[in-house]
Amino acid sequence: MLLSTPSSFPAVDPIPLPAPIWLFKLLHIVTLSLHFVAVEMLLGGLLLAALFSLFRGPAHVVARALARRLPVVMTYVINLGVPPLLFAQVLYGRALYTSSILIGAWWISIIALLTLAYWLLYRFTARLDAGKPAWLTGLSAWIIAGFIARLLSTNMTLMLRPEAWRQMYSASGAGIYLPTADPTTTPRWLLMLAGGFLIAGLWMIYLAARSTFTAEEKRFLAGTGGKTALLGGIVYCLCGLWAYAVQPDAVKAGLASHPLYHWCGYAVYGWFLCLALALVLAAIAGFGKVTASWLSWAATLTAVLLEITFTVYRDTVRDLTLLSKGFDVWDRAVVTNWSVVGLFLVLFVASLGVIAWLISVVARAQKPMEGAA
Ligand code: HEM
Repeated sequence: MLLSTPSSFPAVDPIPLPAPIWLFKLLHIVTLSLHFVAVEMLLGGLLLAALFSLFRGPAHVVARALARRLPVVMTYVINLGVPPLLFAQVLYGRALYTSSILIGAWWISIIALLTLAYWLLYRFTARLDAGKPAWLTGLSAWIIAGFIARLLSTNMTLMLRPEAWRQMYSASGAGIYLPTADPTTTPRWLLMLAGGFLIAGLWMIYLAARSTFTAEEKRFLAGTGGKTALLGGIVYCLCGLWAYAVQPDAVKAGLASHPLYHWCGYAVYGWFLCLALALVLAAIAGFGKVTASWLSWAATLTAVLLEITFTVYRDTVRDLTLLSKGFDVWDRAVVTNWSVVGLFLVLFVASLGVIAWLISVVARAQKPMEGAA
């Protein structure tokens, strides 16, 4: 049974939405899934690169190869973070703006933290290229990125708890306190951190098929990447079960019986399927040291599908939590401006085409061997 309490949310904006809610949700889920792929590559790839930098031989070459790619990954983290932020504000503004203001000082600090992490990524690569010890720089960047992730998990869970808002605002209107009592925040955060090892392991399996690595480096990428993905995937699964277990009863009941959301909740089976597939691919690469290109593309596809199913399920949990507190995301006035929607979709598809073209140019370019000075 879903409980309905008097609404604690600010009044809804009287200006109607200019596009159907399902379209905002679709675009939100697509862009957020891609943001999560990039975030996991950053979180996992950075820590692995810092670790590998301590060794010589193929591990060191792989550390440099990952580190060189991380500033590019960071651009995707940021650019693929902006669209879902805008869509989330359109759909959940009354909740998200409130929670963002309540932790305002921390929330705004993300910009400074992000700049610092970005700078450290460049320092990390430069130190590796110069043959200097770099693990501390890499580790520092990872700690900052992990803290940004913590702040995001904090805000995305605080927006679901209107019952905590008044007391937080009474304690301080300056946004200097972080909420502490939510049992869902830590498992969600750890789920994202653990996912980093799974996705970064799959990323290494992808790299193992690239011709810019020697046979020995490829074997290292496949073997170590596969084992990392295997271990990371198991921890990821456990964190996922933990994150589910601490959800409120109203959410679990909604997942079982709500006319719409119990269908969306089936995304969890897709997530388990992708996870199982990822573990099989990881085992093949990890123990067989297989570097075939089919494995590389299978790992990439599985990583993307895993994040899509995860994002759909996560979105379902959010909607059910908000619904149990009187906030129905579908309950909005809509007056669709089809010419603007059409223009947006044309530009959206065109920009995807440009990105695909840019990637194909990079793929066709002649590249030096990764181990070259
Ligand atoms: C190092 C940089 C970043 C990291 C590590 C990171 C990590 C994360 C994590 C872990 C979450 C999920 C939180 C949860 O639900 O538990 C998340 C969600 C999100 N991130 Fe990022 N993020 C980064 C940068 C950004 C940037 C720069 C933006 C936007 C400009 C952004 C936009 C978002 C949005 C909008 C969501 C949630 C959207 C939703 O729930 O609807 N992120 N991010």
